[in-house]
Amino acid sequence: MTIGGNFPNRPQLILLLLPLIFATIVSSVYATCQLSFEQNNKLYNYSLTNPIRNFPHGILSEDGFYKVAANGTVLWFQLCDAMIFNHDPPTCIECGDCGGISRCGMGCSALVANTVGGYPVCTTLGYSSSTSFELIDKKDPLKGITAKLSNRGPKLNCSLAVSIVCDTNGVQGPQTLGLVGTCDYATQIHHPSGCAVIISSHGDGMGWFGTMLIIILFFFGVYFLGGAVYRYYSLGIRGIDIIPNLEFWASLPHTLQSSFTALVRRFRGPSHGHRSTYSPVNF
Ligand SMILES: *[C@@H]1O[C@H](CO)[C@@H](O)[C@H](O)[C@H]1NC(C)=O
Ligand SMILES: *[C@@H]1O[C@H](CO)[C@@H](O)[C@H](O)[C@H]1NC(C)=O
Ligand SMILES: *[C@@H]1O[C@H](CO)[C@@H](O)[C@H](O)[C@H]1NC(C)=O
Repeated sequence: MTIGGNFPNRPQLILLLLPLIFATIVSSVYATCQLSFEQNNKLYNYSLTNPIRNFPHGILSEDGFYKVAANGTVLWFQLCDAMIFNHDPPTCIECGDCGGISRCGMGCSALVANTVGGYPVCTTLGYSSSTSFELIDKKDPLKGITAKLSNRGPKLNCSLAVSIVCDTNGVQGPQTLGLVGTCDYATQIHHPSGCAVIISSHGDGMGWFGTMLIIILFFFGVYFLGGAVYRYYSLGIRGIDIIPNLEFWASLPHTLQSSFTALVRRFRGPSHGHRSTYSPVNF
């Protein structure tokens, strides 16, 4: 039998799959505010920017920023996006890495102003692209999540941790401001967007594995159909032989069976003679 109809061979298949793999990586990078945690066979899904009742922009502050002040320190931040100031922009010096003098505050997602020598001095705390998330309470995903924005500066590493407490009754803006270490700030808001949606792992939603399985089946379909068409029309093959690589597929069950037997034999060791349950395994 000829092996002529070897239609989508391996390098071609990998080339076909490459854009798909790339798209998967890119989409997971940009979907920073869509996240899910798995715990006890349940999938907890947070979609922070999804519109919900009374909040068409989800967690995003409609003012363009959240603001909190304590002990002479003023802090502005936005979640899942950069800040926008239509009124009261921050007026502090050294705003270089957050928009500069004319657009101060608009170039980052978290900015703090501290009074130093009589002047308010700005420090960038983080960008939306450098946001990471963790559960407020690792044992209870329904309590909410913490968004941590960070900025690795030349002189100082800074960050802002915003705990988004799940609250189905409404929104409470930031009211307290804590300082941990030299430049790590922490605050808290209450918001319905901080509430997880539970997606059962067993029920609906195929997940990554199911999607992959469908893609693989699809390419198998293309391979058999394309191979058969090619062999029928170009090579003039008729009958059961139009199936590409028939010999290989026909021998597959036998190949698998002998590999399995060989594997079992390898793990059990030679099967002759009596063996105790605790005899060592030879590799
Ligand atoms: C989470 O929910 C959003 C919409 O509510 C959906 O687009 C997204 O695919 C869900 N994520 C997971 C992992 O199911
Ligand atoms: C900032 O953090 C990085 C590691 O995350 C560290 O290598 C670096 O020295 C830190 N920079 C300062 C100024 O502390
Ligand atoms: C403000 O002061 C309180 C108590 O003195 C302290 O716990 C808190 O961390 C301070 N906040 C900032 C931003 O310095």
